[in-house]
Amino acid sequence: MKRILVTALLTIPLASWSASSSDWPMQEFDGDLQNLPSLQNGFKLYANYCMGCHGLQFQRYERTADDLGIPHELALKNLVFTGQKIGDLMTTSMPREESKAWFGAAPPDLTMVARVRGTDWVYNYLKTFYVDENRPLGVNNKVFANVGMPNVLLDLQGVQRQVCNAEDCSELVVDAGTGLMSTEEFDSAIYDLTNFLYYVGEPARLERQRTGVFVLLFLIILGSFTYLLNREYWKDVKH
Ligand code: HEC
Repeated sequence: MKRILVTALLTIPLASWSASSSDWPMQEFDGDLQNLPSLQNGFKLYANYCMGCHGLQFQRYERTADDLGIPHELALKNLVFTGQKIGDLMTTSMPREESKAWFGAAPPDLTMVARVRGTDWVYNYLKTFYVDENRPLGVNNKVFANVGMPNVLLDLQGVQRQVCNAEDCSELVVDAGTGLMSTEEFDSAIYDLTNFLYYVGEPARLERQRTGVFVLLFLIILGSFTYLLNREYWKDVKH
């Protein structure tokens, strides 16, 4: 009896833990905030495929354009589809209550998602949508089981299905010729999109890294002058 109780106490928490966390083998994401073309492409993808549902309510268009080196006019013309002004916060016009009814959950704001979930999570989440006829929208996700979000990148990636063997279903395969992008192109697009969300999670990090480089350069220059001056002072001192 005692043994059964101990086993139950040990296995119940373990079972519920493994049900809530995904056991998908995550690919690592290594962000690069110095890579402006990547961040610009991420911004473009975000504006085209995500902004309709997910706002970035703590981020302004102006700051984003400035940080990523995009002229305001170009940003307004190509990246702002909501009729907003360059100084506005990047909010979405998706109505909260209705969207809850449509998707089963309201699309959350994504300003902090890379910090809350982690960049690895976001990167893998965006790559692992797959066909699942048992779900209301015909789609499921390996990292976020039974997700309410439709597979909005289906056109780019193509139709992705899971392949099951005797043990598990840990392989995903795209039907050849169904996507606009090759696997490498899609991976790189998702890299840029995740990199952009990484930047949005803490825009000051980009500035800090840039300032850091200048501070180091300054210290090197100051250091060399101090060294030369020191040498000059001691030159005439005879021992
Ligand atoms: C048609 C509306 C819609 C679009 C477009 C959309 N999403 Fe979603 N997204 C949702 C909904 C709804 C959820 C909530 C799912 C749930 O909780 O089951 C969600 C959830 C998420 C989450 C998980 C958030 C969390 O922490 O729970 C991430 C990350 C995300 N979306 C990223 C994106 C990205 C990146 C894009 C653009 C490529 C995008 N979404 C486009 C509707 C959308």
